[in-house]
Parts: sequence; C-alpha cells; structure tokens
Amino acid sequence: MKPPQILFGAAVFLLLIACKSEVVTDYLNLPATPFDYSVSLPAYFFTNAGGRLPTSLNGTDNTPPDNPTTNDGATLGRVLFYDKNLSINRTIACSSCHNQSQGFSDSRPLSVGFAGGTTRRHSMTLINARYYQRGRFFWDERASTLENQVLQPFQDPTEMGLTAAQISERVSEQPYYPELFIKAFGDNAVTNDKIARALSQFVRSIVSYQSKYDEGRALVNAPGANFPNFTTSENQGKQLFLRPLNNGGAGCFGCHTTEGFISANPGPQNNGLDANSTTDLGSGETFPQNALFAGRFKTSTLRNIELTAPYMHDGRFNTLEEVVEHYNSGIQNHPTLSAALANPDGTPVRLNLTTTQKSALVAFMQTLTDHTIATKAKWSNPFCETNLCFDGSVTSGAYQSSNSITNALLASVENGNQVNFTSAKSIILQPNFEIKAGGIFKAEISGCN
Ligand code: HEC
Ligand code: HEC
Repeated sequence: MKPPQILFGAAVFLLLIACKSEVVTDYLNLPATPFDYSVSLPAYFFTNAGGRLPTSLNGTDNTPPDNPTTNDGATLGRVLFYDKNLSINRTIACSSCHNQSQGFSDSRPLSVGFAGGTTRRHSMTLINARYYQRGRFFWDERASTLENQVLQPFQDPTEMGLTAAQISERVSEQPYYPELFIKAFGDNAVTNDKIARALSQFVRSIVSYQSKYDEGRALVNAPGANFPNFTTSENQGKQLFLRPLNNGGAGCFGCHTTEGFISANPGPQNNGLDANSTTDLGSGETFPQNALFAGRFKTSTLRNIELTAPYMHDGRFNTLEEVVEHYNSGIQNHPTLSAALANPDGTPVRLNLTTTQKSALVAFMQTLTDHTIATKAKWSNPFCETNLCFDGSVTSGAYQSSNSITNALLASVENGNQVNFTSAKSIILQPNFEIKAGGIFKAEISGCN
C-alpha cells in the first residue's frame, strides 16, 4: 500500500513547487474561445421598404477593407478599451466615458478626465458607429476615420493625457498583452497602428438589433405597418417619427434614418438648438472654409437613445420629453438651420403636437432600447470579475473567486472592517491597496494557477 502514498506525497510536493515558483499574472477574465464579434443583422436591415423611406443600411458600413473585425482583434480591443493603465495616472479608460450600461455614453453632460477636468462636449454613443457612410467621427467630424479617432482620446490633455509614444509604451509594459497581440495580429510587436485597429474592431462590433422595435419589425413587411407587439401609443409615435411633415408626421426619419436610425445624410446638420453659434461652431471648426458647416453637428444613432441621456452635443436636455419639446416648439432660426426643419419661407418649423402625440414619440423612441447591448459579456469589462473589481466604495466583505483576484486602484480596508479573499488562482494587490489601522485582511489561495 506504500506506492500510492508516495505518489500522493509527490503530487503534493509538486503542487507546492508549482505554487511557489509560478508568478500568477491572470489579470483578465477572458473566455478560452473568443466571443463572436461578427455582426449578422436580420435581412430587413438591408432591404429598401419602397416609397420615400431610405431604410437599407447598404452602403453605410465604414469598415475599411484592410481592417475587418476578427474575434481575436475585437478581444484585444475590448481589453484596451477597459484598461485604465492607458491614462497617465492610470485612473481613466475609454469605458470611463463610454459606459456599457449607458449605451456606451456617459450620464454626465460633460465627462471627467484623468485630472478631474471636464470634456468640452457630451460623450457620444458608440453604438452603430460602424454605419456612417462618411466615416467621420466626433460631433464636429474632425476625425477622418475611426482608426484615426480611437488614438485621440489617449492624447487628449483632459481625457487620458498620454503622448503618442506613451500609448504603445504603456501597452508594452502590461504582462497580458503579448498573447493578445499574437492572437490578433500574429506577432507581439506593439504599435499604435495595431492598437488603433483593434480598438476600431471592438467599436464596430457594437451594433444594435435586438430591441422591441426589432421584434415588431420582424413580424411585418415594412416599418410603416402597425407592429402587432406595440402599444397604440408606440405605433402612433412610430407613424409620427417616420412620416414627413407634409404628411402629418414629425419628419424625424428624414435625418435619423434607415433601420439603424443613423444619419445617411451627406454630413452634419443643424437641428435648431441655438439662434447662432458663439463658443462651439461644431463642424464649422473642422471645415472653416465652408460657412454652411458652422453650427452643425454629427447625427449619431437613436438606437438605445433611452440609455444615453443627457442629449445633444452639450448634454443640454435631460429627458426625451425635453428633446421632443425642442422639436415641437423650440427650433431656433440659426443661419445654417437644416432645410428639413424650416418652413418654405425659412422660418423654423413648429410641430404643434398634442400631449398625446408628444408622449407617443417618446414611447416610440423607447422601443429602440436593446438591453442586450447593455448586458452582453463580450462588450463588458474583462478585468477580473465584476463583483471582485472593488474600489474605494467597497471596503468590507468576502470575495471568492475561481479565478484570480485583482484589486482596483484606491481600494482600502477601513478601520473596523474585515475583508476575506479566497481565490483559486492568485491574489494580486495593487501598490496602493491600503489596510487602515483596525482593519482586518485575510487572504487564502486554495489552488495554483
Ligand atoms: C474623458 C472622457 C472620454 C474618454 C476617456 C474617451 N472618450 Fe470617446 N468621447 C468623449 C467625448 C466627450 C466625445 C465627443 C467629443 C467631441 O465630439 O468633441 C467622444 C467621442 C468618441 C467617439 C466618436 C463617436 C462618433 O460617432 O463620432 C468615439 C468613436 C470614441 N469617443 C471612442 C473612444 C475610445 C476608443 C476611447 C479610448 C481610447 C475614448 N473614446 C475615450 C469622451 C471620452
Ligand atoms: C434636420 C435633421 C434632423 C431632424 C429632422 C431631426 N433631427 Fe434629431 N438630431 C439631429 C442632429 C444634427 C442632432 C445632434 C444635434 C446636436 O447635438 O447639436 C440630433 C439629435 C437628436 C437627439 C439626441 C441624440 C443624442 O445622442 O444626444 C434625439 C433624441 C433626436 N435628435 C430626436 C429627434 C426627433 C424625435 C425628431 C423628430 C421630431 C428629430 N430628431 C428630427 C438632426 C435632426
């Protein structure tokens, strides 16, 4: 009976050796097989319903031929998107201002950067960024492609505060990137170009097609038909949204168009927020040679609009009711007001909607909410597990993980509190993890990586 015992003892010994010698660097919670980032939209996204409604997304995809989205590329993009090491003081990631639960926008009118400074404009949703034929980005369209856009937040002095060289330096310093670069691009050389490609792939994967609107749309032949799954109010709001002004509608679909509710118009528009532009000329700053661009802004998708409050480039409206009231009674006669919002004599349109019609428009826009966007794991934070990603606000409790545990920055165990960590792999404490006098910290590693 001795041999088995010896074998058993040897196994324990080996296990201990493994525990001692291995430095565990499992910072990420990624699936063994990458998530599927391909976009397969229902057929109605690509059919023209006939009549005057431009419903098809055909011709609007800005994916360049040399950067198609792959599952490994988007996975690398996801990690970069959530990595706070990529701001100068390691406090801000792209996700800080583009929050999954808020339609990849920010609930603050202006977002907060690494040093507490605020951005000039309201954060934009990233949903359907892929579907914009002009392929230009930012409210003022100053970025000529998405690949150019995604490197700018890193270098913005308010947002993330890095230099161009520091972007790839910071990425190279992290132990988890070489493997991700090899999978995505075949080698582990870190360049800003690859970082831009991966981030763009991740952003282009965020497409919405599973809303109440889509459930109804699948049941009928054209968007104008009454949707069987809609309430009377939602169907009424849909008619108002789709129909032009001269046909009893509110004319919204003229600018928020196609099944993606994107802008298929040639360029930025002016929706009459102000009578003139003084401090923010929008696309007039990008294209100063053409007076028509002054005071115009990019129209992004209305899908998931319920989640992306506040609204407009400066976040001036807190609710969809306020937005509808703007279109109903508040349009200003700006010199570049879009023709779609002006009467034949040039004065701003007044919709004169009833209370019922206004709430119908809001009810319709709420059918565009796709809850899978807000919850799908493939777009979520991959750094440790969400319930284990604790920061200063969680100071006490028990943390158990079958993976490794990494604490976020600024975490502390407060006086009088006790924190128990049990991890199957490893427990990694960041340098500024703090145990205050009287706080108790217990850690137990139950396995080896
Ligand atoms: C501190 C907040 C903040 C951070 C961090 C941030 N953004 Fe943004 N983002 C904004 C704001 C604000 C805008 C709109 C700015 C403007 O138009 O002038 C914006 C606009 C965008 C747009 C344009 C969308 C469109 O339809 O034109 C994209 C894409 C984008 N951000 C991606 C990213 C990525 C990728 C990162 C990380 C590398 C990032 N952002 C980091 C606040 C932030
Ligand atoms: C002439 C084109 C045009 C028409 C018509 C139009 N919009 Fe807009 N819409 C825009 C533009 C441009 C913006 C962004 C303006 C800005 O922020 O400066 C916008 C912004 C919005 C936003 C906020 C988007 C965000 O991300 O903050 C909502 C909601 C909206 N529109 C709803 C409607 C509704 C409802 C109607 C019909 C009553 C309508 N729009 C008609 C051009 C238009």
